[in-house]
Parts: sequence; structure tokens; C-alpha cells
Amino acid sequence: MKITVVGAGNVGATCADIIAQKELANEVVLLDIKENLAEGKALDMWQTSPINLYDTKVTGSTNDYSKTANSDVVVITSGLPRKPGMSRDDLISINAGIVKTVTENVVKYSPNAIIIVVSNPLDVMTYVAYLTSKFNSNKVFGMAGILDTARYSAFLATELNCSPKDIKAILMGGHGDTMVPLPRYTSVGGVPVTELIEKTKLDAIIERTKKGGGEIVNLLGTSAWYAPGAAAAQMVEAIVRDQKRIFPVCAWLTGQYGLKNIYLGVPVVLGKNGIEKVIELKLNNEEMNLLQSSAKSVKEVMNVYDSMKK
Ligand code: NAI
Ligand code: 2OP
Repeated sequence: MKITVVGAGNVGATCADIIAQKELANEVVLLDIKENLAEGKALDMWQTSPINLYDTKVTGSTNDYSKTANSDVVVITSGLPRKPGMSRDDLISINAGIVKTVTENVVKYSPNAIIIVVSNPLDVMTYVAYLTSKFNSNKVFGMAGILDTARYSAFLATELNCSPKDIKAILMGGHGDTMVPLPRYTSVGGVPVTELIEKTKLDAIIERTKKGGGEIVNLLGTSAWYAPGAAAAQMVEAIVRDQKRIFPVCAWLTGQYGLKNIYLGVPVVLGKNGIEKVIELKLNNEEMNLLQSSAKSVKEVMNVYDSMKK
């Protein structure tokens, strides 16, 4: 098994490190356009192998895609991160160019790979990779829902003073302020969360979750990487170990939830074939309205990209 992570910045390096430590592949290649960055980080990581006791070989490459040849999974994290005051959508024109070029190289050297996109604006960058690769949509999808759900779950664990391990939650929609956490599908040790937290507090946690990325940008001056890197690595694990895990993933919809020709966060089964099934939850009217309005805002950014191509 060979995995490539494109972009050796904060998210990419964190993701590659976790993939190596969990021994999800024989080989991890970290690639970046910035001279020597990937080589340096990969060497540093490899030097943790005698300490962390793994034998996944980690190597780096400055934009030489031949080193990534025949990767089974490619994680794309290349692009600019958000700076304070910048929305994810501000990133569209720069990151679309980067994701397009990267995807062309990925397809050339790893024609059978599964592609996981992380670059922002996430839903639209996943669309860019899909259009560019011409792969089946089950093999091109984006990471956001696991991260957003993890933020929601972590806030709930803090509020309830309980272990995050006991929280089961799902969140849908685009990776932005219109995302749709679903309290009706959230439980803590099997108990519905609505029985444990009063509505006003739960609503405040949902609002904080929606702005969770921005909260970290304001604290750090750049966007998060520990949780995003771990979330992307968890998707890689589900694929390479064929775990059939159910995760919210940015997936191409073909009529599910009444939506088509759009990338949006929905629950899926993730296994060796990538997205093996899109799960259709029975949403109530309020949840469905929120999902449709999230889809509308993602579609607007997709339209921006489509018009840029003309
Ligand atoms: P970073 O700036 O630390 O790393 C990005 C790396 O991409 C840099 O090392 C840069 O040299 C490299 N790069 C730029 N153009 C390239 C190209 N053409 N080929 C190869 N490498 C190239 O940024 P960070 O924090 O790692 O974030 C990466 C991306 O992920 C950003 O777009 C960010 O907004 C996004 N992100 C998405 C999340 C999600 O939930 N989907 C969560 C966190 C970040
Ligand atoms: C995040 O949610 C900015 O998308 C990035 O942390």
C-alpha cells in the first residue's frame, strides 16, 4: 500500500505523520512545491520511527510526481490556508488552480488512486478534483464532516464533562457556516443528547461548531491542523483497512436528499472502493430545509468556479 500526501504544510504533515504512526501503508510520500520542505519534514518524521516503532517508509519530494507513482490513496492538502478576516470562499481562485494542477499530476502517475481533498473551499475544491480527474465519484471525495463532527463532539464532551469516546454524532452539509449538525442523531453513551443538554445550551454549541474553523483562525492566525490532519488520516484508514465505516464525507450527489450534481457532506460507507454507499437519513422538515440552504450556498461557490472556467 502506498499513500501520497500533497502539501507538506500544517495539515499535510500532520496527516502523513499519523498515517505512518498507524502503519496504514508500506510507504508514505509527502510532496510539496516548496523546495526541500517535504524532504525535510519526511526525514524528521522517518527519524521518529525508531521511537514510535513503525516501519512505514516516509519520503519527501519537491514537486516530483514520479516519486508518487502508483499510489493507492492521495490526500490533497496543497493550497493557501485561511487567514483572519478571510472566508473559505476567498480562497477559491488561487486554490482551484493549485488543486487542478495537482490533480492532473496525480492522475498521470497514479491512475487508480482514490483522491481525498482537504484544500478549501472544500466542497468546491473536491468538485475541481472530480472534474479534472474524470474518475468515478466514488473515488474522489472531500474531508470536512469528520472534522466538523469532531469539533461538535468535543464541545459536547466539555459541556457534559464526559469522555468524547461516548459521543456519537453526525453532521451534514457544506464545510462552512451553513453546515447542519443534527442533535436528533446525537447520543452520549446511548442517551439522546437532547435529554442531557437544554435547548439553549445545545443551540449555542451548534453555533460554535459552525464557526469552529474561524475560532481557531482567530486564535492562531492560520487554520487548524491537528484535528484536520487526524480526520483525513481516519478516512485513509477506513479505505486501506476496508473498514466500511460510516462517516460524513463530502460526496457527489446524484439525487440523494433531492440533490444532484453537487458535492456536499452526507453520511457514507467508506471502504476499499472509496465511497461504497451514500446513506439517506430520514430528515424532518427543519433539517431538510437547513440541508437545502447549505446546498444552495455550496452551489453558489460551484457556480463561481464554473464561471471562472469560461
Ligand atoms: P499550509 O500553508 O501549512 O500548507 C499548504 C502547503 O501547500 C504549503 O506547504 C505549500 O507550499 C503547498 N503548496 C502550495 N501550492 C502547491 C502546489 N501547487 N503543489 C504542491 N504543494 C503546494 O496550509 P494548511 O494549514 O496545511 O492547509 C492546507 C489547506 O487545507 C488549506 O486550503 C486549508 O484551508 C485547508 N484546510 C481544510 C480543512 C478541511 O476541513 N477541509 C481543515 C483545515 C485546513
Ligand atoms: C477549518 O475548518 C479552515 O476549513 C478549515 O479549520
